[in-house]
Amino acid sequence: MKFATVERQCPAKVNLLLKVLGKRADGYHELFTLMQAIDLADTLEVWLEKKGIRFQSTDSRLPLDERNLVVKATRLFLEKTGIQDGIGIRLQKRIPIAAGLGGGSSDAANTLLALNQLFENPMDFPSLNQMASQLGSDVPFFLHGGTALCLGRGEGVEPLDFLGDLHFVLVNPGVPLSTREVYESLESTAHSSLTGSKDLFSMIAKVFREKTYTKLSQLLSNDLEKIALEKVPQLRKLKEMLLRAGAVATLVSGSGPTVFGLAENALKAEELFKKAQNLISDRGYLFYQARSVPGNKL
Ligand code: C5P
Repeated sequence: MKFATVERQCPAKVNLLLKVLGKRADGYHELFTLMQAIDLADTLEVWLEKKGIRFQSTDSRLPLDERNLVVKATRLFLEKTGIQDGIGIRLQKRIPIAAGLGGGSSDAANTLLALNQLFENPMDFPSLNQMASQLGSDVPFFLHGGTALCLGRGEGVEPLDFLGDLHFVLVNPGVPLSTREVYESLESTAHSSLTGSKDLFSMIAKVFREKTYTKLSQLLSNDLEKIALEKVPQLRKLKEMLLRAGAVATLVSGSGPTVFGLAENALKAEELFKKAQNLISDRGYLFYQARSVPGNKL
């Protein structure tokens, strides 16, 4: 055993593009989504215990039993490896819960990576990926982190070259939104085409390469945004405020309700962060300044 304790950062993500291509026979939706990991992150520590799984979290709203994805990931890892040791886990939560930022999925993926590190790599990448996919649609993305196109129900991850330093201001209205409920409200006729989604992705990638950010507001799109705006009406005002405060584009991330505003550089992001806080005085709103982070070397 090389490590007494393994500590990992569990980054959040934003979806720069999320297109729903159709509903599948298994009830999930077929996706084409561009994901980017950001430096808003939870911190996870794992260590050996005599027996059982002892899980502690700084957020009292999180269940500590089997309903928690971290506990599920730990059980699955122990079952697949046949390891009989006990495990201690501490999770310092910073990413808001049920926010469209992938916090729970990132915690689960990083639990698998941390345990694999703790036991000196008993699992190869395909086995970790298989477990991740079983835990949730977004979990495989977080084994890679960085920038990726995610296909299928989200588990088909194609890592991409880092888009570079992107600067975000995130605003969360302080209410949770259930991913399942958002998908359930999606009209079966309102699906995007694969060709159109690929074209949009190529245009977005070009904008990031050339840093011609002014074009972004017409390109960034999320097929779940309309539903998030219906379910949480204050998001409409929030998007307007972020644009007024200087964001080059705004979008709901994933199934929401977190909205991000993109800024052209670090200085403008700082300004946007301050202005947004002044303009949006609603109680209970959470504000974060974040930047893109590159992926793991696997
Ligand atoms: O995979 P995960 O458990 O994170 O998904 C949560 C819920 O979101 C699913 O039960 C499903 O209702 C919905 N979903 C979907 N299509 C996807 C991903 C999630 O309909 N591609």
